[in-house]
Amino acid sequence: MAALVTAHVTENADCWPSSAGLEPSPSLPSPHHMAEGKMRSVIKQGAEARIYAENFYGKPSIVKERFKKSYRHPSLDEKLTRRRVGQEVRAIVRCRKAGILTPCVYFVDHETNSIFMEKMHNYYTAREIISDLLKKGTSEAANELDTIAKTIGITLAKMHDVDCIHGDLTTSNMLLKERLVDQITLIDFGLSTVSSLAEDKGVDLYVLERAFLSTHPNTEALFQVILDSYKKSAKKADGVIKKLDEVRMRGRKRTMVG
Ligand SMILES: Nc1ncnc2c1ncn2[C@@H]1O[C@H](COP(=O)(O)OP(=O)(O)O)[C@@H](O)[C@H]1O
Ligand SMILES: [Mg+2]
Repeated sequence: MAALVTAHVTENADCWPSSAGLEPSPSLPSPHHMAEGKMRSVIKQGAEARIYAENFYGKPSIVKERFKKSYRHPSLDEKLTRRRVGQEVRAIVRCRKAGILTPCVYFVDHETNSIFMEKMHNYYTAREIISDLLKKGTSEAANELDTIAKTIGITLAKMHDVDCIHGDLTTSNMLLKERLVDQITLIDFGLSTVSSLAEDKGVDLYVLERAFLSTHPNTEALFQVILDSYKKSAKKADGVIKKLDEVRMRGRKRTMVG
């Protein structure tokens, strides 16, 4: 556990960008040139981005490349894609400054809308680990689930305390090292915003609640552990939970009417 923390702190030293500036260093050639002619190992092909493994000046990296959407007007598409890349990098920097684990950003290539970032080794998504532990059903697994839920609550409280709204909270966007159930690495900040409003934070938790309960059915009690831990650590938790309750009510009304 300590080793992982040290690794993050050390990596921080050569982590780019050190401030929130987003323009790539002009002296560095685009790492895409290094990849020319090579087969890339695509890790995930999503609807908006493809993720592949790449070496960035000797460091094992992940590249998240947002591709063009042909159904959108080209200039609008370029604007939206560029905005997402900016939002993602800014949020990662903001979270890292607040001591939240996120992959270190090495390079941003605005020409190809790609973010080169630290590759997390031996990581699984929280979704995979939670599903696995729920299947096991042992008391040891229950303890681990409890720790994961508490850690999620604390991590999200820290994130909201610096006014970062993730925008796409799911257990697939949280990474865990198998045995390190008390450390969560947050990823996938392309829909993030900066806001101090309790309403935005409440909606962020609501998005997670919906995703959590549909991915991991019958886990209301486990989700409550996340909320209780959030309540204990977030600065303005009461207002946020109040908004969460309001958003839930609105959701229910919509379901009843629709
Ligand atoms: N820095 C990273 N290190 C290791 N794996 C990663 C990293 N970033 C993303 N991944 C893997 O790629 C998947 C998709 O990444 P994500 O940023 O969530 O993109 P998407 O928008 O397609 O969901 C993650 O669920 C994770 O498995
Ligand atoms: Mg994702």
